[in-house]
Amino acid sequence: MTVNNPKIEAPVLHLIGEEADRLGLECYVIGGWVRDLFLHRPSDDIDVVVVAPQPPEGGENSGIGITLADAVAKRLGKGAHLAVFKTYGTAQVKHKGMELEFVGARRESYRRDSRNPIVEDGTLEEDQNRRDFTINAMAICLNKHSYGELLDPFDGIGDLERCIIKTPLDPDITFSDDPLRMMRAIRFATQLGFNLDGETFDAIARNKERIGIITKERIAEELNKIMLSRRPSEGWILLDKTGLLPLIFPELAALKGVEVKEGRGHKDVFYHTLKVLDNVAEGDSGLWLRWAALLHDIGKPRSKAWDPQAGWTFRNHNYIGAKMVPKIFARLKLPLNEKMEYVRKMVDLHMRPINLIEDTVTDSAVRRLLFEAGDDIDDLMLLCDADITSRNEQKVERYHRNYQLVRQKMVELEERDRIRNFQPPVNGDEIMAMFHLEPCSLVGELKAAVKDAILDGVIPNERDAAIQYINELWQKKQK
Ligand code: CTP
Repeated sequence: MTVNNPKIEAPVLHLIGEEADRLGLECYVIGGWVRDLFLHRPSDDIDVVVVAPQPPEGGENSGIGITLADAVAKRLGKGAHLAVFKTYGTAQVKHKGMELEFVGARRESYRRDSRNPIVEDGTLEEDQNRRDFTINAMAICLNKHSYGELLDPFDGIGDLERCIIKTPLDPDITFSDDPLRMMRAIRFATQLGFNLDGETFDAIARNKERIGIITKERIAEELNKIMLSRRPSEGWILLDKTGLLPLIFPELAALKGVEVKEGRGHKDVFYHTLKVLDNVAEGDSGLWLRWAALLHDIGKPRSKAWDPQAGWTFRNHNYIGAKMVPKIFARLKLPLNEKMEYVRKMVDLHMRPINLIEDTVTDSAVRRLLFEAGDDIDDLMLLCDADITSRNEQKVERYHRNYQLVRQKMVELEERDRIRNFQPPVNGDEIMAMFHLEPCSLVGELKAAVKDAILDGVIPNERDAAIQYINELWQKKQK
């Protein structure tokens, strides 16, 4: 079949084919770019596989990928940047925001950044055999004699139509070649809204322990792609069903299940969490708010208790959860920077707005939340809205309305008191100068007293009022 899509007529693809013809090589665009062409997804990474006319029997890698990349970079001229990875027999050409990757066809399993140097050249078919999924194994010829011809030995097109993720070979072989592919299978299923083929699914369940040899960084990359999908819950459910979840994220697996005592059960926190995550994802939220949603109740199993009067309780689960965040981030190799701090804060504060919906709530409590959440207050309110997952529609309606009122109250107080980006109107140096003090704990005490007076509404958030307040405090202390 010849591909009929304007993208395949891109001048750069014709140019690659012309250079290959000149060098007497066969070349094909392959992998993700071809898959995305049929799915109408944008893609600037183009993988090109190069085949020697007669691969040497058991021969050394002849570096034909590098040869073609070099010729293409020269033809493209000044704007092109060539990078050669000799040990791996690959080369990359960057040009006008595109990344062109060149590699010789391999008999061995394909891993772009494999630690093992490539040892043997292969035919196109051998190369396609060793790729991860049928939808990623399709190739389109770039040589003039068959330009645009699709080579699809495993019916990748059919699997795209059927929305199936399936390995080209026996899945036990494909996954043992590279166990990261078990994560990739679930990630592609989630990103594309596809199903896992039955045998592929069973093989993941059978080979799950092999995930242990994959670095945490690679797993994190896949998890982040799952998290950024339209319905991230689908990925986490597949991770659970295949048995990978407890191996890569035991704290999340621990949220599963319902305990019943005296006829009273609690929510299944795992499925509740996934609903909250999907709710947040619907609103086009960023990666870290999604992580906050996934972790908001992570402290629940550790705080769960049975109270004969109240039933199941999860006291302080937000504090316990917030304390778990840095450890989880460290183990999953997620960044230990301000992103982690943001997630920790969200988990810590996620129960606060719900306590502000009563009529009797004081302005002081609202100001304190504004102060602690700072600029992240809007994200916190999005998380709290997403956290309402009751099946009772009237209840959901009531909660949303109440949150609206809390938001309104916040807006009013913020307009008046500007607490969000609170900076003390008098700093420590000024306090020391006012009373001729050396640095000491009293300076900190006076500063904290001013902050509390402002947050409690005793004085307005203004410099003159703050100075007068400190003077009065000082006078009292002298008596
Ligand atoms: N590949 C593979 N096994 C892997 C990684 C990659 O077989 N563990 C092959 C697949 O044919 C894949 C191609 O290499 O299509 C390119 O890999 P990569 O750039 O990682 O993935 P894409 O398919 O392009 O998709 P994405 O960019 O979304 O990761």
